[in-house]
Amino acid sequence: MGYPRPSCLPLDHRALHARRLEVTLTDDVLIVHGGTPLQGQIRVRGAKNLVSKAMVAALLGESPSRLFDVPRIRDVEVVRGLLGLHGVKVSDGAEDGELVMDPTNVESASTDEINVHAGSSRIPILLCGPLLHRLGHAFIPDLGGCHIGPRPIDFHIKALREFGAVVDKTPEGMHLSAPNGLHGAKLELPYPSVGATEQVLLTAVRAEGVTELRNAAIEPEIIDLICVLQKMGAIITVHTDRVIEIQGVPKLYGYEHKPIPDRIEAASWAAAALATRGEIEVIGARQADMMTFLNVYRNIGGELKITDDRVARDGVTGAEGGIKFWHPGGELRAVALETDVHPGFMTDWQQPLVVALTQARGISIMHETVYEQRLGYTEALNTMGATIQVYRDCLGGTPCRFGRRNFMHSAVIAGPSKLHAADLVIPDLRAGFAHLIAALAAEGTSRVYGVNLIKRGYEDFEAKLAALGAHVERP
Ligand code: EPU
Repeated sequence: MGYPRPSCLPLDHRALHARRLEVTLTDDVLIVHGGTPLQGQIRVRGAKNLVSKAMVAALLGESPSRLFDVPRIRDVEVVRGLLGLHGVKVSDGAEDGELVMDPTNVESASTDEINVHAGSSRIPILLCGPLLHRLGHAFIPDLGGCHIGPRPIDFHIKALREFGAVVDKTPEGMHLSAPNGLHGAKLELPYPSVGATEQVLLTAVRAEGVTELRNAAIEPEIIDLICVLQKMGAIITVHTDRVIEIQGVPKLYGYEHKPIPDRIEAASWAAAALATRGEIEVIGARQADMMTFLNVYRNIGGELKITDDRVARDGVTGAEGGIKFWHPGGELRAVALETDVHPGFMTDWQQPLVVALTQARGISIMHETVYEQRLGYTEALNTMGATIQVYRDCLGGTPCRFGRRNFMHSAVIAGPSKLHAADLVIPDLRAGFAHLIAALAAEGTSRVYGVNLIKRGYEDFEAKLAALGAHVERP
């Protein structure tokens, strides 16, 4: 192909090997009989990456909050546990998916209790500001989340210090206090980090004075979090050019909120429709949050029909809308893409779409510019018959932060390739779903180890697979 041979990804290999040992010793395996187009209708609920943050925001209120359409996923359970440890009463509301969070009696939790959640999710870091406001101190355990690179928290810590927090990093976790209270600050992020922007929002809303955040993330989940905070009484202005201004207020109250739908899950199912030559209607998916993805889908040759305003138009039957995605037959087309912050192509859309791109004619390029090590999963696709090479260079787009730092962050996908069954070990959430799609698209029977990890972010995925006619079973 004229491209140099890729070299290995040492860190990914070590992590993957450890994970292989861990999961092949358990019965956490799904048997997938591939080769059947997925067909039917499934529903997505509130976005994982908003719901968990909205739950943290409830800590800031003086009265109970109600969050609707909450998916039953592991990340929600982790935050529920953490809130519970800090005295927030979390209960299921009357509606399916409704959570009621009562923060009237917020209290300290012991480090041992908090450490039970060490390594389970990235969300605990976002409790810093709310706990400092409510208790004057906070303990944050060692973080978890997907192994998709080093995932530092330096932006968070720098911002918290500028608000006046004292941060003490110890081997067991991070202790924070605010002996002189938290005060508004002028901040600028080196990169528009989603988490660091959320950290600033959740801290600034009750800090004394005005905070100005430059180079902020403006993902739809961030805007929805701002909506939640505004409902609670916060005063937040989103200016042009990624500048967010927050006027601190002394008190916040509970909110009632229906989150934006999960645009990552919706895109994952859309990619599954394409890769398996099927047709999936994703009820609840919303066009406005997915425009970049929808354009790419069309450019590849996928078809889609948007009915996300159907509820409003069809109040009589109550039929809910969404977006229908399908493979129209014939060949898919190769594309050159790069992931980016909003409104670019999301890094979490990348992995499932790459599986579909193995079926496109020609050479596709995927330049990952958000995380430096998010292409390790392509190795497993190659064992299934795909032809994907990864490179250190910034291919197909503008040079990014990783280009000169030796990270394998560009993938070249040559297609179409006939995928065949394999034994797979799921490395992380999104790559895991991509592996699952590959197994569903492949001829033959695959064993997918570690599938329970998918429950971190995909509600009832096995029931949804069954509804779409997939042939999967537990051994
Ligand atoms: N970064 C730093 N220092 C920091 C924070 C971030 O260098 O202190 C870097 C990261 O290493 C990365 C980049 O900034 O290279 C972007 O990271 P960001 O902070 O935006 O990511 P995050 O908040 O940790 C959230 C989602 C991710 C999603 C990213 C990007 C949640 C819980 N996670 O992560 O979702 O990929 O934003 O949109 O909201 C997933 O759902 O599977 C997932 C990984």
